[in-house]
Amino acid sequence: MPEFRLDPAAHRDGFHQGFTLWFTGLSGSGKSTLSSMLHERLKAAGARVELLDGDVVRTNLSKGLGFSKEDRDTNIRRIGFVCELLSRNGVIAIAAAISPYREIRREVRRKIGNFVEVYCSCPLEVLVQRDVKGLYRKALAGEIPQFTGVSDPYEEPEHPEVICYTDRETPEASAAKIWAKLKEMRLIDFE
Ligand code: ADX
Repeated sequence: MPEFRLDPAAHRDGFHQGFTLWFTGLSGSGKSTLSSMLHERLKAAGARVELLDGDVVRTNLSKGLGFSKEDRDTNIRRIGFVCELLSRNGVIAIAAAISPYREIRREVRRKIGNFVEVYCSCPLEVLVQRDVKGLYRKALAGEIPQFTGVSDPYEEPEHPEVICYTDRETPEASAAKIWAKLKEMRLIDFE
């Protein structure tokens, strides 16, 4: 794991570091919910923070990309590139994308340096039962090819900084866990 490039000046001001908070997990596992909660809380604390949500990115920056491994890798590299630019300029970049492949997440982590990976863990059975977007039903019926967790792989992170068990933790509890980790890592010093 790369060394964190802590900026001591940022701490004297009682502010925050530039870093990337990266949410990974299956569709419906809570990435968008938790990332937007952290986004709101950081904004309210006065942080410079930007949120890159997979569903939104795919309507602009990654418009036209599909869900083959190659297209997903391109999507993740693009999101990672923007996070890198933001992080190195003192901004907190939050990314929420399935990002199913371990190697590409590792590549992005290596490039960015100040990288905090949050794994939203939720059993597939629970996601299928909830099926908020109705996509699992279609995927199981064979109507969506290459659907992550059903007909396409998801490689769990081996050493994420935080694991949120979104089937048995409240969103508030998961968000608090992430917040505490950021403080423990001395990336933020807000209350
Ligand atoms: S990633 O694999 O490239 O990281 P991303 O997070 O941007 O995926 O987009 C995932 C979202 O796209 C899902 O939440 C779902 O709404 C939609 N989607 C459409 N087709 C697929 C598919 N084949 N696999 C996964 N998600 C899909």
